[in-house]
Amino acid sequence: MHPMDRGRAIQRFEEIPKLVLGHYPTPVEKLARLRAAVGGGPRIFIKRDDYTGPGFGGNKVRKLEYVLAAALQQGADTVITCGGERSNHCRVTAMLAARLGLGCVLVLNGRGEEPKPASLAVEQWCGARIERVASREERAGRMEALVRELKKAGKNPAMIPLGASDALGAMGFVAATAELAAQMEVEGWRFDAIYFASSSGGTHAGLAAGRELFLPGSTELVGISPDDPAEEIQSTVTSIVQGLGQRLGVEFTGEIRVLDNFVGAGYGIESPQSRRAFELLARTEGILLDPVYTAKAMAGLLDAINKGQYSESQNLLFWHTGGQLALFHV
Ligand SMILES: Cc1ncc(COP(=O)(O)O)c(C=O)c1O
Repeated sequence: MHPMDRGRAIQRFEEIPKLVLGHYPTPVEKLARLRAAVGGGPRIFIKRDDYTGPGFGGNKVRKLEYVLAAALQQGADTVITCGGERSNHCRVTAMLAARLGLGCVLVLNGRGEEPKPASLAVEQWCGARIERVASREERAGRMEALVRELKKAGKNPAMIPLGASDALGAMGFVAATAELAAQMEVEGWRFDAIYFASSSGGTHAGLAAGRELFLPGSTELVGISPDDPAEEIQSTVTSIVQGLGQRLGVEFTGEIRVLDNFVGAGYGIESPQSRRAFELLARTEGILLDPVYTAKAMAGLLDAINKGQYSESQNLLFWHTGGQLALFHV
């Protein structure tokens, strides 16, 4: 990217309205005991986005800062979004909507788990209206019907896509990349690769665009799928990255890499590998992952180390995107 284009894109990015709802910068910590436990190899660092703050933290706070700013600018009084029954995105949306005085309607698919997932209970405590659908496929149609229903009732609803993963929401991770770049500069760090869970695509797209704007070009981004086939996520991420490019007036060309060999039996289900990764991090560092997103991503990082893909002189960053509330039921 030409430096002038880059400068203009950064300027445009900085002009996009956002709310500041989280606590930044989130810390970057060294995982020396985990490194020793896996027998050495590259240095391992962790970006603690489980500490972003509201809604029990996680990556959704960063995305919603942009999406909710736009909703408020449009005069919205209600937000509508969707997810699974344990959705971290829906929980954070419900909590931030309560904080901003907005109504919240959540379209959830799921089995009606017993005992009740903590995220679902939190949504109800925060006053969200829950609308149930039988499958993922029905969510979009129901959200559109709800928009029509609420408008008829004199409301002004704003629809937030799954995971707040559109070009606007992904700006949250462009901002996160700028935040990381500043931490790297202060500490003199260089990361050869960043590992993270990638599903609805906003996190990955924001990091991909942010890499081209703020990080050394050689930084590898490795998204680990907790659910869908790699090609599907790659194509979603690519189209969000295109949207980011359009908004910022540049073309992002970096490779989008997604691995889907850590999904196990499917969405929301632990695999033996993710369980081992979860337990190893808890035992060696006292850090909890969530069992079905970040633990699968950690399994991917540990597998790469195990296969000798990185040397002792390299540095890996694991981006902890939160989600630990999925461990709890009420
Ligand atoms: C804890 C956690 N990590 C990672 C992700 C993936 O982020 P994205 O949806 O932006 O791809 C999610 C998404 O639902 C999540 O809940």
